[in-house]
Order: sequence, then structure tokens, then C-alpha cells
Amino acid sequence: MKIKMIVYSYTHNTLLLIQEWAKQLNQHDTEIASIHAYDEYPNTKTITLSEKPSIASTDHLVFATCVRGGTLAPIMAAYLKQMPDLRGQACTLVLTQYFPFEAWGGRQAMKQFRALVEAKSGRIKDTFIYSRMRKSADQKARILNHVPQA
Ligand SMILES: Cc1cc2nc3c(=O)[nH]c(=O)nc-3n(C[C@H](O)[C@H](O)[C@H](O)COP(=O)(O)O)c2cc1C
Repeated sequence: MKIKMIVYSYTHNTLLLIQEWAKQLNQHDTEIASIHAYDEYPNTKTITLSEKPSIASTDHLVFATCVRGGTLAPIMAAYLKQMPDLRGQACTLVLTQYFPFEAWGGRQAMKQFRALVEAKSGRIKDTFIYSRMRKSADQKARILNHVPQA
């Protein structure tokens, strides 16, 4: 299966997690592509994307990014808003956050993430919120052992 993982990661925690997961999925044709903006400073008010990965010809799309002040990282939000319609494409959403509880940002950000992908007719199969402060092997294993479905 062809899996494209589209990542926005500022300090690379999300990217490292996704790279680890992609290694586990070595039976599949997996590609990681990063979203970038000209100015990625977290408090910037103007976002102009400089790298917008294409969503064409894949069996499964993974979108992965981080929580920012209880919301979805604005650069991921800007990417999703400008993306073409997904026409029922199967998707998995991954969020990383620092705090140990989903209520401290992740849950709200995931709601926003989900709404933006559904607004583009993405078919969300699974969602994961990974807390970096919660040093549980289980939450990481749940992601690394997960095999996306078409
Ligand atoms: C400006 C800013 C706001 C953040 N807000 C939250 C938050 O509301 N909740 C949380 O748990 N972590 C928060 N974090 C932590 C990041 O979500 C966390 O470190 C994430 O793993 C960073 O991902 P990255 O390294 O891929 O950019 C925030 C980080 C920054 C820089």
C-alpha cells in the first residue's frame, strides 16, 4: 500500500515520531513530505506556505503535526485549508503535544484537525494524540504498531 505522511514539525518531535513509524511500515511504500512556510516562528501572524506537499495518487494519507496553545499548529491549518478536495481519501491524523493530558490542548486541536480534513472530504480512519511528557511506552507502541487501512 502507498502511504504518504504529510508533516508539519517545528522542533522535529513530530517528524522523529513519524520517521520511526515509517520505518516500522517497511512492508509498504511509505513517503514522508514536510510542509514549510517562509516564516515558521510560532508567534508569526502571517503564514505563507513555501512547501505544500501534493496529495495525489496514494492509498492512505497521514497528516501529522503539533498542538500550539490548545489549537492545531497554524501552518498545518493553513495547508489543509488550501489543499484540494480529498474525495473520500482514507486518512490518519497524528498530533504531538507536550502536556500529559489530552484535555491540555490535544483534544481541542484534534477537533479542529478533524473538522478541517472532513471539510475536504477526507475519510478519517484513526487519530492519535501523543504526549511527550507522558513517558509511556504504550502510547508510542499504539502508533508504531498501527497499520493504516485504505
Ligand atoms: C507556541 C507553542 C505552544 C504550545 N502549546 C501547547 C499546548 O497547548 N499543549 C501542549 O501539550 N503542548 C503545547 N506545546 C508543545 C508542543 O505541542 C510539543 O512540544 C510538540 O511535540 C512539538 O512538536 P514539533 O517538535 O514537531 O514542532 C506548545 C509549543 C509551542 C512552541
